[in-house]
Amino acid sequence: MSIRLYPATIMLMVAYLPFLLLPGCSSEDAVAPIQASSEPGDSDSANTRFDWPAIGLAHNEQRYVPLETVNRDNLDRIGLISSFDLSRYAHIVTAPIAVNGVVYFSSGLSVLHAVEAATGKLLWTYDPEVIKHAGEKMRIGWGSRGITFSDGLIYWGTGDGRLLAVKAGSGELVWSVMTVEPDDRRYVSGPPRVFNGKVIIGHGGADVGAVRGYVTTYDAKTGEQLWRFYTVPGNPADGFEDKAQAMAAKTWKGDWWELGGGGTVWNAMTYDPDLNRIYLGTGNGAPWNRKIRSPGGGDNLFLCSIVALDADTGEYIWHYQVNPGETWDYNAAMEMILADLEIDGQSRKVLMQAPKNGFFYVLDRQTGELISAEAHAKVTWAEGIDEQTGRPIEVPGTRYENGEVLMWPGPIGAHNWLPMAFSPRTGLVYMPAIELPGYYNDTAIDVATWRQSEHVQLNSGVDSLDAEPSPDFGSSSLVAWDPVSQKAAWREPTPFVVNGGTFVTSNNLVFQGQADGQFVARDAESGKLLWSYDTGGALISPPITFAHDGRQYFALISGQTGAMAMANAGHTDWTAREQPKRLLILTLDGQATLPEAEQGEGPTLIAAPDFELDDAKVAAGKKLFGYKCTHCHGPAAISGGAAPDLRASSVVQSDSGFRSIVVDGALLQRGMPVFDELDDDDLDAIRHYVRFQARKAIRNDTKTAGAIREP
Ligand code: HEC
Repeated sequence: MSIRLYPATIMLMVAYLPFLLLPGCSSEDAVAPIQASSEPGDSDSANTRFDWPAIGLAHNEQRYVPLETVNRDNLDRIGLISSFDLSRYAHIVTAPIAVNGVVYFSSGLSVLHAVEAATGKLLWTYDPEVIKHAGEKMRIGWGSRGITFSDGLIYWGTGDGRLLAVKAGSGELVWSVMTVEPDDRRYVSGPPRVFNGKVIIGHGGADVGAVRGYVTTYDAKTGEQLWRFYTVPGNPADGFEDKAQAMAAKTWKGDWWELGGGGTVWNAMTYDPDLNRIYLGTGNGAPWNRKIRSPGGGDNLFLCSIVALDADTGEYIWHYQVNPGETWDYNAAMEMILADLEIDGQSRKVLMQAPKNGFFYVLDRQTGELISAEAHAKVTWAEGIDEQTGRPIEVPGTRYENGEVLMWPGPIGAHNWLPMAFSPRTGLVYMPAIELPGYYNDTAIDVATWRQSEHVQLNSGVDSLDAEPSPDFGSSSLVAWDPVSQKAAWREPTPFVVNGGTFVTSNNLVFQGQADGQFVARDAESGKLLWSYDTGGALISPPITFAHDGRQYFALISGQTGAMAMANAGHTDWTAREQPKRLLILTLDGQATLPEAEQGEGPTLIAAPDFELDDAKVAAGKKLFGYKCTHCHGPAAISGGAAPDLRASSVVQSDSGFRSIVVDGALLQRGMPVFDELDDDDLDAIRHYVRFQARKAIRNDTKTAGAIREP
C-alpha cells in the first residue's frame, strides 16, 4: 500500500450550519437567502448588524455577504482593531463565527472561546476536557474545524466524540451527548449544522480504524437523539436499519462490515430549506483500498457520495456517487453549495460540490441527476465523467492494479475542506484549489489477510510510507469557476499548496486568507489583486466578515496546523511552537498594532555525527513513523507546523527523554499523544529514521523539505 504524498500527506477529514441574525430576529427565522439590514452601498452606520453564525454563513453555504461598507475605494483603510493570542500549543485550523459582535471559535483540544471583536477581550472559554475522555483518539489531532450558533446556543463537537451546547452569552453548558460508541475509532472534528430545531453531526475515523459512518440528529434544545442514518451497510445478518441499507449492501462484497466500510461524514452537511432535505457529503472507504474492503469489487454505496435525506425523518431520497468503488481517499466530504442557476434556458435548483477528485459537479438537487461535471484541476485518474451514466471514465492503471501509480490529485485532493464561496451576482464559485499528486501502491501488502491495527493510526491499506516531499510537486490557485459553462473565468496562483477558504461580497470583492500570512481582496470578476494585508501568521482557517454597531469587521485566525500543515510541509517555514497563533480582528481605520511575531527561520537540524545509523532500523522506523507520527510531525519527518520538527529536536537524541514523551506522555497536556504500544526497539527505530532524515537534509544543505531532493 502506498501512497507517497508529495509534500505530502495523507488523508484528512472534517463538519456543521447557518443562519443569519438580524436585530429582533431569531436565527431560526432567518434562513437563506440572507438579507442585509440595509441597502447595499450604504455607509458605515447602515450595516448595523450582520452575523456570521455558521461555517457556510447561511443554509445554502454560499458564503456570499451582502455587506458593502468596505468597498474597493476604502480597502486600504482596513487595519487591525484587536487581537487575541492563542496558546502556542493549540491546534487552531478552525472556522470562527460571529454573533452580536462576539467572535466564537474552538481551538486546541476543542476549547470554545468567546472574544469581543471590538476589544479583543476574552469573555469566556469552555473546556470540554478532551484529554480526560479521548484516550487514543488524542492521536488524531485535527481539532475542531468549526462551530455553529443558533437561537442563543453554540454547538460543537469534540475529538472524543461528544456534541455540546452552551449558552452563547455565558458559556454555561446546556447539554452534552456522546455521539459515538465506547472505544470505537470515531471522533468529531467537523462543525454541526442546525435546522428546524435539530442539530446534526457526523464523525471521522475511516482513516484510522474499522469505522461504519453515520450522522445523527438531536433535539437542539435538549440533546435528545432523533434520527440516525448510516452511510454504509452493516452486517446483513444483523438486519438492515432501513431500505437504503439493503440497497447499498448489494454493492459490497466479502465481509466488509468487519473492516467498518467507512463513508464518514466528517465535514459536509447542507440543509435545503426549499425542499426540507439534508444533503450529506460522505467520505472514503475504511480502509481506502477496495481490494481489501470489498474483494471482488462493487460500487460500495454510499462511499464518496452526495446523499439526500428527508430532514424530518432521515429517510433516504437519492444519492450521487462521485467515485464508485473508491480506493484513493477521494472523499466527497467537501462543502455543498445550493443555488438556483439558469442552465439551458431553465432555472434549476442545483447543488455544487468540488470533492477531492478534481472534478466540479453540478447536480439537480430535486432529483440527484448529474447536470454537468468537468475537471477544474490537473486530473490523471479519469478521462472525464460520462454525463449519461454519471460515472467517471477511469484511466487504466488507476486502481494500482499494475503496481505503483503516481496520480493527480493525491489524497489531499484538488479541493479540500477550506470552503469555496458562490456569488449569485457574478455567477462564479471562488475555490481554493490544490495541485498535489500522490503515489498509490499495494504490492507490498497481503490484501487477503490485511486488517486494521487495533491502535489509532493510519489504516489506509495503501502504502503511504515512501512519502518523500519533493519541491517539484505542490502548487495552488484561487479559481473562479463558472458552474454553468464549467470553465474557469479566471485563475490566480496562490502560495504553497493549501490556503484558506474564501468569501465573496455583494460589491464583488473576493477575500481569501493565504498560508503566507496575506489576507487578500480580489476583484470578483477579473481576479485582479486589489489589496492585501500581512498578518504575520499562516491563514489557513476560513476568514469571515460581520457587522456590529454599524462597523464591518473581518475575523481571521492564524496558524498552520493539522492535516493542512502536512500538505504545506516543506513549502513553508512555519514552526510548531514559534508561529503566531491568534485571532485578528480588522476593520476600517483600525489603529491597533500587530503584535510582534516570534517566527524564526525554521528548524535548525541536528546531524549528531556520533550517532551510528543502522539501515534496518531506519527502514523499520520509517514505517512506524508513517503510520503513527507523520500526520502531526510531517511527511519524511519534515514538519509543516502542527508539531515540532523532530529532525531539530534534542529530545530525539536522548533515549530516556524520547521514551518519557512518546510512551509516558510527558507532553500530553500540550497535545503530544501517548504511544505505549511502542517497545524499545520501535523507539530506537524511530530515532534512527529521524536522524537519517535530518542528515539527508543537512547533506543537501537544506532546512526544509521544499528544497530537499534525493541525494
Ligand atoms: C496528534 C498529533 C501528534 C502525533 C500523532 C504525534 N505527535 Fe509528537 N508531538 C505533538 C505535539 C503537538 C508536540 C509538541 C508539544 C509541545 O509543544 O510541547 C509533540 C512533541 C513531540 C516530541 C518532543 C519534541 C521536542 O523537541 O520537544 C517528540 C519527541 C515527539 N512528539 C515524538 C512523536 C513520535 C515519535 C510520534 C509517533 C510515534 C508522535 N510524536 C506523534 C503532536 C503529535
